[in-house]
Amino acid sequence: MLKGKHIVLGITGGIAAYKSAMLARLLIKEGAEVQIVMTPSAKEFITPVTLSALTGKPVVSEFFTANTGEWHSHVDLGLWADAMVIAPATACTIGKMANGVADNMLVTTYLSAKAPVFVAPAMDLDMMAHPSTTRNINLLRSYGNHIIEAASGELASHLCGKGRMQEPEVIVNELIAFFNKSQSMKGEKLLITAGPTYEKIDPVRFIGNYSTGKMGYAIAEEAAARGAEVTLVSGPVSLKAQHPSIKVIHVESARQMLDACKEAFPQTNIAIMCAAVADYAPNVQADKKIKREKDEIPVINLVKNPDIAATLGSEKKDGQIIVGFALETDNEQSNALDKLHRKNLDMIALNSLRTPGAGFGTDTNVLTLICKNGFATELPLMTKAEAASQLLDAICRIK
Ligand code: PMT
Repeated sequence: MLKGKHIVLGITGGIAAYKSAMLARLLIKEGAEVQIVMTPSAKEFITPVTLSALTGKPVVSEFFTANTGEWHSHVDLGLWADAMVIAPATACTIGKMANGVADNMLVTTYLSAKAPVFVAPAMDLDMMAHPSTTRNINLLRSYGNHIIEAASGELASHLCGKGRMQEPEVIVNELIAFFNKSQSMKGEKLLITAGPTYEKIDPVRFIGNYSTGKMGYAIAEEAAARGAEVTLVSGPVSLKAQHPSIKVIHVESARQMLDACKEAFPQTNIAIMCAAVADYAPNVQADKKIKREKDEIPVINLVKNPDIAATLGSEKKDGQIIVGFALETDNEQSNALDKLHRKNLDMIALNSLRTPGAGFGTDTNVLTLICKNGFATELPLMTKAEAASQLLDAICRIK
């Protein structure tokens, strides 16, 4: 399953380092080429000789080989890798990675790596629970690194709790799942819209809605993790895209969103319209704050905004797929089907504000995926990340 994959296996100084020998062996059994990089203290726990015998490659640990003066390039290693796995990752190395403390070969390789990085923490339970460890692990997550959560059980200290490095089989399975997923959308170019639009009334007021962008950003992250190139046209939200291959275009109004989408659409295979676009905008935007007058109540006249999904639907070429969302409060299925046909979409993801855990702001959603032929798949309540994954699986099936 990992045939031909180049894996840099980073080993740090913890008792779980003995499991890394088994991890290296399993990776090789799956067809990967493994290069081991050890921190100096890892060598106190397991010898480089054992590891190089397993991988068939000398272990790299120092910047230079002392007797020959040979220079080991962390940059080359970082570029060679299809994935870097740090297992076990001690609190010390996690702290260095989180804060860029590049004082050994492993951390310099990590900082140079362009490939996805998997980190399997292992430490005593108190260290694991310390706020500094939590903060550092969260920092790694925010860099887009994959954390393979430590397991609970008996630790080297004989205490019981969370801190055991995951078993080598679990780590290998995680890698296999990652490569399977990321391969499935390689070469695809996605355009995703997310968040609300703000339609300006005056310099301090706007017409908007409750969308937070969570659903659209979850789709963008999942698509990027599967290897797709993603252009995310985002209304005003407080989220930040994490994956480096997501290109974010920030917009405010429906008109700006339309312009960004029209520009990106010709280069797109799959467009997913998740934004909650305001259907109307004030017909004039005051350039000064509208004052509160004593007896007068201002009237705001509205004009229709462009329908972005319908515009792209009318420009759709063979081989392009457009998926819309429908946010409904009543007659859900028939309203969603009507939007699917009217906007020339290939699929629509229906979510209803009547369903608990679905719609705006929540970390969860409940989607019904409806295809052009009317075939509907009802998904249960799940996180927005899981819903994004199910949606992309369904899109891959209709391609
Ligand atoms: O952002 P979150 O807080 O996570 O919430 C997620 C969500 C509820 C916003 C999301 O799941 C969702 O349902 N998005 C679509 C909301 C919406 O505007 O639905 P609609 O039924 O009004 O629009 C139908 C489709 O047409 C949508 O794909 C919409 O993006 C598109 N549209 C609508 C109006 C318009 N002027 N232009 C459009 O392109």
